[in-house]
Amino acid sequence: MNKQQVKERIEKLRQEINHHRYLYHVLDKQEISDAALDSLKHELDELERKFPELITPDSPTQRVGGKPLDEFKKVQHKLPMLSLTDAFLFKEIQEWETRNKKLLPLETKLDYYAELKIDGLAVALIYKKGILWKGATRGDGKIGEDVTENLKTIEAIPLRVNLENFSQSIQKKVAEELEVRGEIFMKKADFDQLNEIQEKNKQPKFANPRNAAAGSIRQLDPKITASRKLSFMAYSLVTDLGQKTHQESHELLEALGFRAGTNLNQYCPDLQAVEKYHSEVNKKRNSLPFWIDGIVININDQQTFGRLGVVGKAPRGAIAYKYPAEQATTVVEDIQVQVGRTGALTPVAHLKPVRVAGSTVARATLHNEDEIKRLDVRIGDTVIIQKAGDIIPDVVKVLSKLRTGKEKKFKMPVTCPICGSKVIRRTGEVAYYCSNKNCFAIQKEKIYHFVSKKAFDIEGLGPKIIDQLLENNLIKDVSDIFSFTASDLEPLERFAEKSAANIIEAVEKAKKITLARFIYALGIRHVGEETAIDLANHFRTISRLQKASFDDLNKIYEIGEVVARSISDFFRDNRNLQLIARLLNQGIKIKEPEVRKKTAASGKAFVVTGTLPSLSREEAKTKIREAGGKAASSVSPSTDFVIAGDNPGSKYEKAKKLGVKIISEKELLNLLK
Ligand code: IVH
Repeated sequence: MNKQQVKERIEKLRQEINHHRYLYHVLDKQEISDAALDSLKHELDELERKFPELITPDSPTQRVGGKPLDEFKKVQHKLPMLSLTDAFLFKEIQEWETRNKKLLPLETKLDYYAELKIDGLAVALIYKKGILWKGATRGDGKIGEDVTENLKTIEAIPLRVNLENFSQSIQKKVAEELEVRGEIFMKKADFDQLNEIQEKNKQPKFANPRNAAAGSIRQLDPKITASRKLSFMAYSLVTDLGQKTHQESHELLEALGFRAGTNLNQYCPDLQAVEKYHSEVNKKRNSLPFWIDGIVININDQQTFGRLGVVGKAPRGAIAYKYPAEQATTVVEDIQVQVGRTGALTPVAHLKPVRVAGSTVARATLHNEDEIKRLDVRIGDTVIIQKAGDIIPDVVKVLSKLRTGKEKKFKMPVTCPICGSKVIRRTGEVAYYCSNKNCFAIQKEKIYHFVSKKAFDIEGLGPKIIDQLLENNLIKDVSDIFSFTASDLEPLERFAEKSAANIIEAVEKAKKITLARFIYALGIRHVGEETAIDLANHFRTISRLQKASFDDLNKIYEIGEVVARSISDFFRDNRNLQLIARLLNQGIKIKEPEVRKKTAASGKAFVVTGTLPSLSREEAKTKIREAGGKAASSVSPSTDFVIAGDNPGSKYEKAKKLGVKIISEKELLNLLK
């Protein structure tokens, strides 16, 4: 190819790449695969490398993000970037119309263009000769920050506007200068993905998509912005291209190559239609790919809009009709620390349960120590919590005027609340970490054990669900299992309303438990099912067991020295005592073992071997235990009886050798009477 041919090829490639950008970001369509598009971009990149003099600022290759800046330059907005008055009730919208009508000539007929109010941040884009020249944040409305390099990385923003279908006069106007305003935002899926990456990189997670978008735009290094998937929705065509209505300006914006939501917004001839749109959008807003906090109602006629002017910092001709804030106030009853998959310690506020946007909330994340300091949140504080689409809500503000003076400051623990290892904070990181690599695994295993068949036996609460609960900071330890609600579970993957309700029911049922199962569930080292039964029969209540000394335990016939030491250590550890107290506080009722009449089996040690004529081995063991006997698994000199069925094997031989009495099932049943 000669240089002229290369130039032509480059131009064609740019047009083609921009066409697919438009399809994807404006029309939500895809004609060729990502791989094919990447291949076109690659070819363009190669050609531009060979002929750098052919690079232009609107080339798609210029999106990757250039050199980091030292600071953002200030930009003065030609026209102030206004904000909107908020309304929550239809009555307020009707009052808004009445107010406006009073300011307008009697014959004015008002109609509206209603659009989605995306929760992101506002930017202004200025194009010169059709090419993106400058982009700025809103700032204080008058002066914003120049974030052009960062905005260039966003594919939904055209680097060059499309003027093909426009008249000469419009082309001329656009060439002079075009200003478009709109919202930078992050889609829900991209937000989740970014937080996963943040977690993997041991970086703090973003509280909500708005913060993530704002944080990504205010990066001095455009390469960081380029790595975040940001989107753009245009809502205002500042330049006069002859548009008569707000609806028309949205159509023009889309023809110029911006996404302006014409498939989602709605022309409304009157306020009744606006109200209908508001409630329809409310129904589908959870299934939209991005977060919206309301709709924006614009008087459609541009002239009327202009005539109404501005009051304070908001135009009279538009209003935000918001959805009830997903916020509520409640009291922080405690702050506990959870250990995540990466070992990061996340402080979580345990709240007095409160209804927020249709579900009961009992926990809110506090993210990290810096966030606690920023909010100055203390145990006992009344706080505002907010659901921002995450499973677990955030604390957004402390109502410090409601303090009584009894509130307690929170201090990050110096040892891990799960495994007791040292807690570390690496330089430059906000999170604290447990220094034990296996900590999260230990925590998981403890919970798996706690809910297992021989322990609390909570049906439906399998490892996959436990993993999700841990990852979403919904449980820190087993005591939290008894406080979550169906609405905590429903947003988790693989969860329907029904299965959430089933688990809640199973949890409720499991609250009544025998002492032996309770002891076994605690997961004390060396305490299996049998030892748990021995301990239950001996001490009869958990508080007596808690108080038992090493000597008390060592004296018990069935308990050896190592086991006694392990039990005694467990109950000397304050964290375990606190856990038991929390479990009892959650309404767990422990059943004392029944007082049994003495039988010939009481206190005797039995081993069952071979196939018994009527009972299974497990049934025989249960009967032995119920009669006060001990069912052991191996024969030793201290075994009193071996019950032998068919094909008894080595245990039978050993019993014969040791001179242990061998009896049949029938003889056993007689002994148990
Ligand atoms: S019109 C006159 N339309 O909401 C002010 N704003 O609460 C121009 N926003 O600063 C705003 N979606 O960042 C308008 N469809 C929409 C919007 C929208 C989101 C944001 C925008 C503005 C804020 C005001």
